[in-house]
Amino acid sequence: MQKLTVELGERSYPIFIGRQLFGSSRCLQSLEGCKQVLIVSNSVVAPLYAGKIKNCLAELASPPEQIEFAVLPDGEKHKNLATLNQIFDQLLENRFDRKAQIIALGGGVIGDMAGFAAACYQRGINFVQVPTTLLSQVDSSVGGKTGVNHKLGKNMIGAFYQPQAVIIDTSTLETLPDREIAAGIAEIIKYGLIYDAEFFQWLENNLTKLIEKDAESLAYAIRRSCEIKARVVAEDEKESGLRAILNLGHTYGHAIENQLGYGEWLHGEAVAAGMVMACDLSVELGWLGKDILERAQTLIAAANLPTRPPTSMTAEQFVTAMSVDKKVSGGKLRLVLLKGCGNAVVTSDFDHALFKSRLAAFTQS
Ligand code: NAD
Ligand code: GLY
Repeated sequence: MQKLTVELGERSYPIFIGRQLFGSSRCLQSLEGCKQVLIVSNSVVAPLYAGKIKNCLAELASPPEQIEFAVLPDGEKHKNLATLNQIFDQLLENRFDRKAQIIALGGGVIGDMAGFAAACYQRGINFVQVPTTLLSQVDSSVGGKTGVNHKLGKNMIGAFYQPQAVIIDTSTLETLPDREIAAGIAEIIKYGLIYDAEFFQWLENNLTKLIEKDAESLAYAIRRSCEIKARVVAEDEKESGLRAILNLGHTYGHAIENQLGYGEWLHGEAVAAGMVMACDLSVELGWLGKDILERAQTLIAAANLPTRPPTSMTAEQFVTAMSVDKKVSGGKLRLVLLKGCGNAVVTSDFDHALFKSRLAAFTQS
C-alpha cells in the first residue's frame, strides 16, 4: 500500500493506494471509534463492494455500533438535489449525530454527492472517499470539490469540503466496464497536458497497458495523477488561481454534458473532446505547437475517446452553455489553454472572435 498526503495544514489527509485494501481495516483508521457510519453507494457498486467495507469496519478495534446504507440510483442524471435528499433522509431517520461519518463508495457521482451531504449535514460531518472508478481514483475523490448538478449548469451547487482520507483499492477496477476505464484515462491525459510533459510521453508509450488494465501501469498512472492533483490542491485549495488548470477541456466538456442531457456522454468523454478543442484554440492563438495538438488527438483517439464534440451541437449552444461556468468572472469567459505541453494558463485574454470561429469549425454552424 502506498500513501500520499494532501497537505492542507490541519485539514491534511492521506491517500492510500493499493490492491485488495478492502481485505483489511488498516486504511479505515480515520473511522476508529466512530459509533455511527453511513455507507453511501449506488445500485451497481453496493452489491459488489459494500459488504467488504462493512466487514472491514467490523474488524476495527472499536467498530461502529450502527452501520446504515444509502443506496442511490445509478448515474449522472441522478446527481441532483432530489437524490441528495435521500442521503439526508437516511441520516435523520437513523438519528445520526454530529460525530457520525459517511463513507462515499462509488465513482465521482457518489463521491461528489456524499461529500456534499457530509458538508451540509448538521453543518458538517466527517467523511471518507472510497473511489471505485478510474476517473474518481485519479481525480474526483481528491481535493474536496463536492456538489450536484442543476439543469442549467453542471456542478453548480456545491461546497469545498475535504475528506478525512481517500482509500483507493485499485482491484475495484477489475469490474469496471471498458468505456469507464477510457473516461478515466481522459483525466489522466489531462495531467500530462497541463503539468507534466514527461508523464504525457509515458502515457503515449503505455496506453495499451492502461486500456488492458495492467495492474502495475494503472497503479503508476493513478499515483502520478494523485501526486499532481494533491500538489495543485495544496497550493490553491479553493481555486483562486492555479487550481483552475485542472479544468482543461472542462468548460467545453460541461457544455456538452449539459446540452446532451447529463449522462448521455460520460464526463471523461466530454472532457476528452473539450481538451482537443482547447488545444486547437491554443494552436490557433500561436501558443501551442501543432505537433502537441496532433499528439493529444492521437492519444485521445487511441484511448477510444471522442476527439470532436457531438455532431448535433451548434457553436451557439456552446457559447450559451459555456457562459454558465464557474470560471466565468465579471461576465467574462475564462478558459484553460496551453502554452506548451505541461504548461497551462487560465485566461480571458484571448481573441474571442477566434474562439467563436474555432467553435464553428468544430460544429455544424
Ligand atoms: P460514475 O460515478 O457515474 O461511475 C461510472 C459508472 O461506473 C456508474 O455506472 C457506476 O455505478 C459504475 N461503477 C463505479 N464503480 C464501479 C466498479 N468498480 N465496477 C463496476 N461499475 C462501477 O462516474 P465517474 O466517471 O466515476 O465520475 C463522474 C463524475 O465525477 C461527474 O459527475 C463529474 O462531474 C465528477 N467529477 C468531480 C470531480 C471533483 O473534483 N469533485 C472531478 C472530476 C469529475
Ligand atoms: N477536477 C477539477 C478540480 O478538482 O479542481
